[in-house]
Amino acid sequence: MKPAGTHSSESMPEDLSEALKKSTKDVHEQAETTEFMKNFQKGQVSLREFKMYMSSLYYIYSALEKESERNKDNPVYAPVYFPAELNRKHALEQDLEYFYGPTWRQEIQCYDATQKYVVRLQHVGQHEPELLVAHAYTRYLGDLSGGQVLKKIAQKALHLPSTGDGVAFFTFPGVSNITKFKQLYRARMNALPMDSATKQRIVEEARNSFLINIQVFEELQKLASQGRENGHPMQQQTELRAR
Ligand code: HEM
Repeated sequence: MKPAGTHSSESMPEDLSEALKKSTKDVHEQAETTEFMKNFQKGQVSLREFKMYMSSLYYIYSALEKESERNKDNPVYAPVYFPAELNRKHALEQDLEYFYGPTWRQEIQCYDATQKYVVRLQHVGQHEPELLVAHAYTRYLGDLSGGQVLKKIAQKALHLPSTGDGVAFFTFPGVSNITKFKQLYRARMNALPMDSATKQRIVEEARNSFLINIQVFEELQKLASQGRENGHPMQQQTELRAR
């Protein structure tokens, strides 16, 4: 009997890109409909929540990009290594400096679910590098898709300037045509050398990556509501401004 939550390879599409899209459809929907993401889509995101989210992303992308760098010459990852086009760490540093000021490094926190994500990325990058593409796919293709909608919502909800300050994370200056770049990325994924067992493991890892992302959102949501109950000053400030 196959373990619960795994996907049978019987109906697995040939191309990795198709297999990933198909096998993560349900977890994508789960991620989209977490309280955190549902609220975000409605423009119900406070400055405090957004800052916590960006801080988590900073830890996640620092780890993802460190492991990408480690595997840039590894044939199981090299074809999908696009640092100039995709890297987000520097953009997140700019956003965090914008929101927290120059002392941002001392002010941000890495919460448990985010830490778990970081540990998984480090494990994959160092011990199972053939699975790293699953993590890069989940984050970067997501950022190039739904992320573009979230950018506009954040700018409006948080009254951010039209200069792009505070939303560098969602902006990809190295990608001139997002649709074409996603096509190229999919083609590169499809050309990665792998047997069917590895393809199955990559698909499972992508599902796992979505589930870890969901845990990050759930934790942020919980922390945000605790902050509200305690009447966190930052929360009150944004609520006042929103009136
Ligand atoms: C694709 C929306 C959250 C990962 C897409 C697409 C849309 C979308 C419309 C399809 C784009 C296309 O086919 O051209 C959203 C919205 C979200 C959200 C509105 C939240 C409010 C997420 C999250 C993740 C994610 C949290 C992962 C952490 C992906 C990936 C794809 C994708 C990997 C590419 C699927 C593929 O073509 O293989 N998203 N998304 N999304 N999204 Fe999301």
